Amino acid sequence: MNDRSVLNIQTLPENETERQFYFMDKAAGYVETLAQELGRKPTCCVTTFGCQMNARDSEKLVGILRKVGYEIIENENADFVIFNTCTVRDNANQRVYGRLGELKGFKRRNPKMKIALCGCMMQEPSVIEKIKKSYNFVDLLFGTHNIFRFAELLCSVFEQEDMVIDIWEGTDSIVEDLPVERKYPFKSGINIMFGCNNFCSYCIVPYVRGRERSREPKDIIREIENLVADGVVEIMLLGQNVNSYGKNLDNPISFAQLLQEIEKIEGLERIRFMTSHPKDLSDELIQVMKESKKICRHLHLPLQAGSTEILKVMNRRYTKEQYLALAEKIRREIPDMAITTDIIVGFPGETKEDVDETIDVIKKVQYDNAFTFIYSKRTGTPAAAMEQVPEALVKENFDRVLKTVQETARERVARYEGQVCDALVEEVNENDASLVTGRLSNNTLVHFPGDASLIGKIVNVSLDECHGFYYMGHMV
Ligand code: 5AD
Ligand code: SF4
Repeated sequence: MNDRSVLNIQTLPENETERQFYFMDKAAGYVETLAQELGRKPTCCVTTFGCQMNARDSEKLVGILRKVGYEIIENENADFVIFNTCTVRDNANQRVYGRLGELKGFKRRNPKMKIALCGCMMQEPSVIEKIKKSYNFVDLLFGTHNIFRFAELLCSVFEQEDMVIDIWEGTDSIVEDLPVERKYPFKSGINIMFGCNNFCSYCIVPYVRGRERSREPKDIIREIENLVADGVVEIMLLGQNVNSYGKNLDNPISFAQLLQEIEKIEGLERIRFMTSHPKDLSDELIQVMKESKKICRHLHLPLQAGSTEILKVMNRRYTKEQYLALAEKIRREIPDMAITTDIIVGFPGETKEDVDETIDVIKKVQYDNAFTFIYSKRTGTPAAAMEQVPEALVKENFDRVLKTVQETARERVARYEGQVCDALVEEVNENDASLVTGRLSNNTLVHFPGDASLIGKIVNVSLDECHGFYYMGHMV
């Protein structure tokens, strides 16, 4: 630590939120100087890889970048580029390395350009080593636990020549009330918890996102109330395993109870959440969903595999029969609930017969959609040390699973053809500007004639024609 930073610390606010606002002011000074040098407002681009958690984290980064004076653009040929990375499967990592190569070219032409990497990939020591060695043009690396310190790290980037590296192994703290800039004015994700304690044997998330931490209900409610006052009508509650929300709070509260509190917020129209672990989905939650007017008719319930033996080695802590019984109970209590899932094909030791079990579950549950992934070996997870399945068998099994998913989902999604449903209009259709795209409560998309003035409104739409995973319709 140099003398200057010692001096700085003495004048710094102790409260973490205030501390970060102090650094935002300071960073704004650096951005202003840069603007004078460039003769224009500096630009920045935030690229997100991976899940909804990362998308929400990126909104926090954009909030701070906007506050300190950057112009936000969608083009990576910018003065500041940050990649918010994912490492759940190896192809996510490979994409980041590929894109970094492109950034190098931009930086050669714009020496003042700064490049930052953050997110899950950065929590892997081998990744940090690789970037230090092969991508030394990167200016800043930080991980998932200290994203709240972004303003402070941004100042360090302006102050030091060398790569700034700040990776924490874990944290207990949750810092509230920092700036956020939403991608959509009418809908928003909200973190209700961070981390995961489940340690499914294939999954790297518990290692890179740390242990489960729940936010206080009052902080969540206040955030949602503020969002609603700002025009938000639909929220998505985010957590790796929302069903275990609240267990570790000083005053424990269940996820179902949290939902009941959120339901009371006036002006809020739709509540979604993600992800539910089947082992923790309670009868209380099913009842709350059933009685709710606001909770959307969509449940994402990752299966991962249909074979009880594979599930056991995956450490999922449910059997095929328990999963099927749960799905059946949900269908019985809430018949219009769309159920979607995640499936992994090619987990170590998975045979053709194991995959037959997965296919059997798909046929029985009748998913509205299923995200099917080829197993990806993640260093440090228990499954990485197990005997891997030959590629050809994985490919064959993957194709069989995908075909079953497509066939069953097509039938399931089409069941509302001819009916009128509520749709929240999200955007003007990308391919045809005379259409808008709306999302139904059950998460299916519908395209229908309309214009930008409808964006953010919930309208009645007749679902005229089902095209696989979406509908074409008209407003009524
Ligand atoms: N390989 C393939 N898919 C994985 N997932 C998590 N880890 C892996 C892995 N190592 C999938 C799971 C999870 C989703 C977010 O990603 O299906 O539900
Ligand atoms: Fe990974 Fe399992 Fe946690 Fe989901 S529940 S994040 S699959 S360890």
